Amino acid sequence: MRKGRVSRTALNVAASMVTLGAKPGWHDRLPAGLPELSEALLLASGVFPFSARALELARRPWAVRLATLGERLQPGAFEGLGKRKIFMDQQVCAAIDAGATQVLVLGAGFDTLCLRLASENPAVRFLEIDHPDTARAKQRAVKQLGQPVNLTLLAVDLAQRKLSRVLADSDAWDSSAVSIVVAEGLLYYLTPEAVRQLFDEIRGSVGEGSRVAFSHLFDLRRYRMARAALALEGEPWLSASEPDELHDYVGSGWEIIAAQPAPAARELEGLAVATSCSAK
Ligand SMILES: C[S@@+](CC[C@H](N)C(=O)[O-])C[C@H]1O[C@@H](n2cnc3c(N)ncnc32)[C@H](O)[C@@H]1O
Repeated sequence: MRKGRVSRTALNVAASMVTLGAKPGWHDRLPAGLPELSEALLLASGVFPFSARALELARRPWAVRLATLGERLQPGAFEGLGKRKIFMDQQVCAAIDAGATQVLVLGAGFDTLCLRLASENPAVRFLEIDHPDTARAKQRAVKQLGQPVNLTLLAVDLAQRKLSRVLADSDAWDSSAVSIVVAEGLLYYLTPEAVRQLFDEIRGSVGEGSRVAFSHLFDLRRYRMARAALALEGEPWLSASEPDELHDYVGSGWEIIAAQPAPAARELEGLAVATSCSAK
């Protein structure tokens, strides 16, 4: 990632949610409050060009049409992000219902999940980690909007510090508690080795029966245009996995319990859930 710059991809995902919320039929499909909170976060971050005027333009019909057209060129790049948000929300709510008491969102960007769910689930601890350049802008924005007491935001470069160390050093995390970890739009910025190492570190930082909900690309050769654009942005894609190879992608100690879409209906990203299993 480019040093000293708020992640463009994180900003783009949040801005897409503002636009998607304005697309007929989509507002009520998205988790309640997501488009509005994405807009509020972007505005409160003070990051250029997200002024009130620019965000109002992002909700206009022509902005919706433009984004819809963009999705024809790159399937999954607009509505696909909405489906990703819905999936992560459902997985986190299902894990909490099943007894998880901690939620960790890695590479959180301007995602709203923790902010929305923390107040509704006061007995659950929510933790977000992102690269300092992005996390600081998010911290500023969350403070301005009102930070729930059970939400902690950490500014950490995971390429520089081990996740297991970060969590062991944090008062906001209990490494024995059943947890759900979200890695949305993050793994493909890591090499295959770094993905396995990350899962290994998560495994050592959560209680038995914890889960990871994540998104992944299918095959890096499929996305030549998008890859070139992202490399120019300083956020190149480095790893991918076919659905039937996810087990190897995440490494040992994890069982894949859900994976979508089916290869025939493939979009830009696949969505999956892994649960920790006893073989360490
Ligand atoms: C595509 S964005 C996704 C943001 C968010 N998960 C979402 O879906 O809305 C990727 C995120 O990963 C974060 N990230 C990338 N490399 C990182 C690193 N080394 N340490 C911490 N965060 C990182 C970026 O700052 C950015 O917020």
